[in-house]
Amino acid sequence: MEYHTERLILRRWKQSDREPFAALNANPEVMRYFPSTRTREESDKMVNAVEQIIAEKGWGLWAVEEKSSGEFIGFVGLNIPGYELPFSPVIEIGWRLDKPFWGKGYAPEAAIKALEIGFEQFGMKEIVAFTALENLPSQRVMEKIGMTRCEEFDHPMLAEHHPLRRHILYRISHPKAG
Ligand SMILES: CC(C)(COP(=O)(O)OP(=O)(O)OC[C@H]1O[C@@H](n2cnc3c(N)ncnc32)[C@H](O)[C@@H]1OP(=O)(O)O)[C@@H](O)C(=O)NCCC(=O)NCCS
Repeated sequence: MEYHTERLILRRWKQSDREPFAALNANPEVMRYFPSTRTREESDKMVNAVEQIIAEKGWGLWAVEEKSSGEFIGFVGLNIPGYELPFSPVIEIGWRLDKPFWGKGYAPEAAIKALEIGFEQFGMKEIVAFTALENLPSQRVMEKIGMTRCEEFDHPMLAEHHPLRRHILYRISHPKAG
């Protein structure tokens, strides 16, 4: 199953996505708001894990392809965080695109589709997003797709004095929830 937006395709992962995904995961600029870059092995493990979730659930962190070029540009999609958070249980929306594709509104375009799939097709009631307080580009995406800024919290997987520890939570409810 794949989903189309005006300029993008959200789809299952292909073998050929692994190399460009490893490259973006190894790029310190792309990973600036994460504790570290990822090795090829770690990157491939993530692909295996997200592919398995999409196969099982029908939703997950989809590979995103640019229609005009056919290129893999990163991922956007839905995920259950693999650790306990102050507001668990939740389904989160997330995104990571390679740098040449930033600034074109691609993340919001794909994210709006992912929200629609979560709410309309899978009956989700609420979807959250969170990021390091410093990650303003990601917060812009959350705002552009209509999410509401909520509370700050300390990320439980980051040590007490880690510079990225402080995070901000955004939420959005099913449009018909009331
Ligand atoms: C966050 C991210 C997905 C945004 O995707 P995008 O498709 O560029 O989103 P947009 O085009 O709507 O731009 C969003 C904001 O990013 C910033 N931005 C755009 N181009 C940029 C660039 N070349 N360099 C730095 N920031 C840029 C701007 O603040 C922009 O807001 P604006 O449209 O009000 O000016 C992308 O920057 C990314 O993948 N970053 C690295 C991974 C990451 O941090 N993921 C989120 C973890 S929670």
